Amino acid sequence: MATIKDVARLADVSTATVSHVINDTRYVSDELRARVLDAMEVLNYRPNVLAQGLRRGETHTIGLVVPDNANPFFAEVARVVEDVGFDRGYSVILCNTGDDLERERAYIDVLIAKQVDGIIFIAAGDHHKHLAELTDANVPLVLADRDVAQSGVDVVLVDNELGGHRATEHLLDLGHRRIGCIAGPSEATPSADRVKGYARALREAGVPVQQSLIEPGDFRYEGGEEAAARLLSLDSLPSAVFACNDLMAIGALRAIRRAGLRVPEDISVVGFDDIVLASAVSPALTTVAQPVEQLAKISTELLLSRIEGESPSDLARIVLDTELVVRNSSASPIGSW
Ligand code: RIB
Repeated sequence: MATIKDVARLADVSTATVSHVINDTRYVSDELRARVLDAMEVLNYRPNVLAQGLRRGETHTIGLVVPDNANPFFAEVARVVEDVGFDRGYSVILCNTGDDLERERAYIDVLIAKQVDGIIFIAAGDHHKHLAELTDANVPLVLADRDVAQSGVDVVLVDNELGGHRATEHLLDLGHRRIGCIAGPSEATPSADRVKGYARALREAGVPVQQSLIEPGDFRYEGGEEAAARLLSLDSLPSAVFACNDLMAIGALRAIRRAGLRVPEDISVVGFDDIVLASAVSPALTTVAQPVEQLAKISTELLLSRIEGESPSDLARIVLDTELVVRNSSASPIGSW
């Protein structure tokens, strides 16, 4: 592969002149510029963009850290971050932590080593010590979707507690009083807040919150199916289930079907996210829609404004609203009419 020295030799100029032509960092006469460009063409020389960026202190690359890019929610986040970044001249390095804190730490080290200009971070857990490594390294950082205590950085979230309340209130309004809940990973703040909203709605309706009706899950399809199966093994079945994300709600649909029961006739199901599958499954899933595109766009634009020095000095804490989307997986319990 041709080097800058090969170009300088063929163009009969110094390597500094070649560098000035490539980086446009100093005046070069038309004649010398033409000789350098011709030599680059002949030798098929491609400047080392990373080396260029490091000299200027920027790589025009941002990192995106997500817990599970196989989950359509995070896939949608990644697509929007990449779209916004591409339009602004940035590449994106996607890091999938698998909700594993050690893997998350390893990726933080990788992104620092690659000298990314900034990072959009969806945390695997509520552990601010990882983030300290990034803030100590002065890497611009935006926390998206999941809050981390004492982070000291910009945060862009949705109101998960209100979303959980909205889902449960919908089921209460239909007449359900024995409502199960399938939670996500306990260390993920969105799940904890959604369960808080579920409990608040029950209390406001005078319905006791029963721990036996709250099953732990993992935000994955299989985890939702297993948690629903545990709810279906109770002596007294719930007439409705609120799952803290759509993948678990879709897993619950399968568990209910495998138990020989019908949705919504025997058990209503409500999810959270409104991923594209929610309207594709049968019955179509009632769910709490997250403004994923808005969340990802605002997070990316906030980070790029930090990187380019255009943002306000005070930290941002942006909390977006959700919307209940009623489809065919929820209905009034039989006999309540
Ligand atoms: O489906 C994945 C879940 O984890 C979403 O609800 C999102 O909020 C993320 O935190």
